[in-house]
Amino acid sequence: MLSKLIRKKQPALNSELIKRKELSQLEQLPSHISIIMDGNGRWATKRTLPRIAGHYEGMKTVKKITKFANEIGIKTLSLYAFSTENWRRPKKEVDYLMRLPEELLGKYLPELIEQNVRVTMIGNHELLPEHTKRAITNAIEETLHNDGLILNFAFNYGSRDEIVQSVKQIVNKVQQGSISSDEITEELVSSHLMTNELTEPDLLIRTSGEIRLSNFMLWQLAYTEFWFTDTLWPDFDESCLMDAIESYQKRNRKYGGLKQEEVN
Ligand code: FPP
Repeated sequence: MLSKLIRKKQPALNSELIKRKELSQLEQLPSHISIIMDGNGRWATKRTLPRIAGHYEGMKTVKKITKFANEIGIKTLSLYAFSTENWRRPKKEVDYLMRLPEELLGKYLPELIEQNVRVTMIGNHELLPEHTKRAITNAIEETLHNDGLILNFAFNYGSRDEIVQSVKQIVNKVQQGSISSDEITEELVSSHLMTNELTEPDLLIRTSGEIRLSNFMLWQLAYTEFWFTDTLWPDFDESCLMDAIESYQKRNRKYGGLKQEEVN
């Protein structure tokens, strides 16, 4: 088994982290955190393991970060798990990634339910293999009434594709006369995106040292605070998340305006 090849990682939270976790709850927490989970392949290659071993380890990080984010009171965690461009990878790797929802959402579902986590998905699911769709649909249905953390997977997701689909829906409504073109507002566009039931992300994290958005939530990230780290996703842990949150808590979000004290 791959898991046997891979070194066990640090388990319990240390006391410093527990203190940081308590402190974080006193200050303003980001409500919605989005993560571009990057660096699984490099993590594996550095250990002369096959790339899929990095994805397996990355899946374990997903479990750890979900649990912790829920515990500290984050409301929504969006994870970029498979992009519309990831189909260009070798078939063996794509097949493995398509198995991960079963691996994660199948075996881990009882724990997610116990943690009161609600699973949602954004992306184009029509093109997914049946077994992948089944695992995703089942997790969504089984957690529908949970009201803890929303764990939102972006799977076969591309932001440009999402915007194109939204424009098509709006054009259809205008052509059918159910709305007029004057009614096309930012709110209307937002309400036609796949994220229409979610708040916009407050904080975006990308791991592995890459500094780009890779077609992720282009519309939704307009006023989001960004945080980049060189840490590879399989090495990302609770204390990395706290670093990102603490950085966010020091930011001055102005949404293009000014704070009262800056007006002269
Ligand atoms: C990017 O690393 C990561 C991915 C394309 C897959 C992310 C998947 C997981 C973290 C596992 C959990 C997923 C699901 C579906 C539940 P990369 O392969 O691009 O890394 P590299 O840039 O080092 O090659």
